Amino acid sequence: MTSLSSLYVHVPFCRHLCNYCDFYKKKFDNPHAQREEFAQYLRNSWKRHESIMADKKIQWAPLETLYFGGGTPSLWGIEGARDFQSIIGKNLTLKPNAEVTFEVDPGAWNSQSLLAWEGLGVNRFSVGTQALDDDFLKILDRAHNREETFKLLEHLKGKNFSVDFLLGSPVLSKKRDVLSELRELLSYSPKHVSLYILQPAAGYSLKKNIPDDEIVGSEYILVSEFLRSQGFHHYEVSNFALPGFESKHNLRYWHGENVAALGPTGTGYFSLSPSEAFRYKWKPSQAEIEEEILTKDEIDLERMYLRLRISAPFLESEISEKPGLKKVLLDWKSRGLIEQLNDAWRMKPESWVVLDSLMNELFSALK
Ligand SMILES: C[S@@+](CC[C@H](N)C(=O)[O-])C[C@H]1O[C@@H](n2cnc3c(N)ncnc32)[C@H](O)[C@@H]1O
Ligand code: SF4
Repeated sequence: MTSLSSLYVHVPFCRHLCNYCDFYKKKFDNPHAQREEFAQYLRNSWKRHESIMADKKIQWAPLETLYFGGGTPSLWGIEGARDFQSIIGKNLTLKPNAEVTFEVDPGAWNSQSLLAWEGLGVNRFSVGTQALDDDFLKILDRAHNREETFKLLEHLKGKNFSVDFLLGSPVLSKKRDVLSELRELLSYSPKHVSLYILQPAAGYSLKKNIPDDEIVGSEYILVSEFLRSQGFHHYEVSNFALPGFESKHNLRYWHGENVAALGPTGTGYFSLSPSEAFRYKWKPSQAEIEEEILTKDEIDLERMYLRLRISAPFLESEISEKPGLKKVLLDWKSRGLIEQLNDAWRMKPESWVVLDSLMNELFSALK
């Protein structure tokens, strides 16, 4: 029996559908009916999930990480806390030091409901700030403004929280000053920053205003240097943390460890053996999954890809046993993209701007 101690729950509603977003969500315009529909979906998917686990010989262990993402978990409210507890929470236990994350939209929360979720074990919040300039929040089609963000950050001050920050915003007339926005954000002492780069789906109305890769790359390096100068560790391509505040939940994905998922489009991963893995994604229309079996080659390829996205040093044997690897790493070293530390290697943040082309170089060298 393999054990499972991480769970992601996707909460699929938002009060406004931001025009750049391609995550699965629905407009929350009939709260009572939508909460009930979601509760029914969770009831059905819990049963289905139990049968998948039995089939794969996997059993729950006390949870070490639990993550409520979306969509907008903070819209689920006190009623959501009650539904979660009665459908899923009652079947699981949390380890005493478990990390339990809850995403909050600055325009869609209230203190009583956050308290209800804290009562269920939530001890880490992820705030969808995106920008702190009202003009850019409008350009980004966000429904909240900077004052609402400050109100939420004031409420969270002293707690463990992360902020989402979006780069690559469309350029209209005004120039965005991301460092001054970040300075304001840091005055509330977040422990973690997730950096997103706008990649809107086809049909986005401001596509022609999106800055080119070179500009976005320089913005990314600027932000990385700034956050590092403020004591943050750039520990994954898109994530920064003060020491000890790295996202334990996301590190599990990046290390190819078991993470279960519930909720429409939630994606879970079970490592069944060194040569076989199982990935499943919940269909939005019904509590049923699409599934995929990964072969040893696919697992190796993913591990290589994920390993190069985190800053922890790696040994060559963790990437590949193939002879072409050393030559590629030495070449990256000569181009200032990677550091050599005795037997280990560590990616530099500068390399992550061109990660896709580095992956192509690596894959063709190891073919
Ligand atoms: C799916 S949202 C869920 C949390 C919350 N609803 C929010 O918007 O903050 C998680 C993150 O994904 C980002 N995101 C959504 N669509 C994106 C896109 N097309 N390109 C880059 N980031 C995106 C959001 O800005 C947000 O920071
Ligand atoms: S609030 Fe978040 S999940 Fe909802 S539409 Fe906007 S970016 Fe997407």
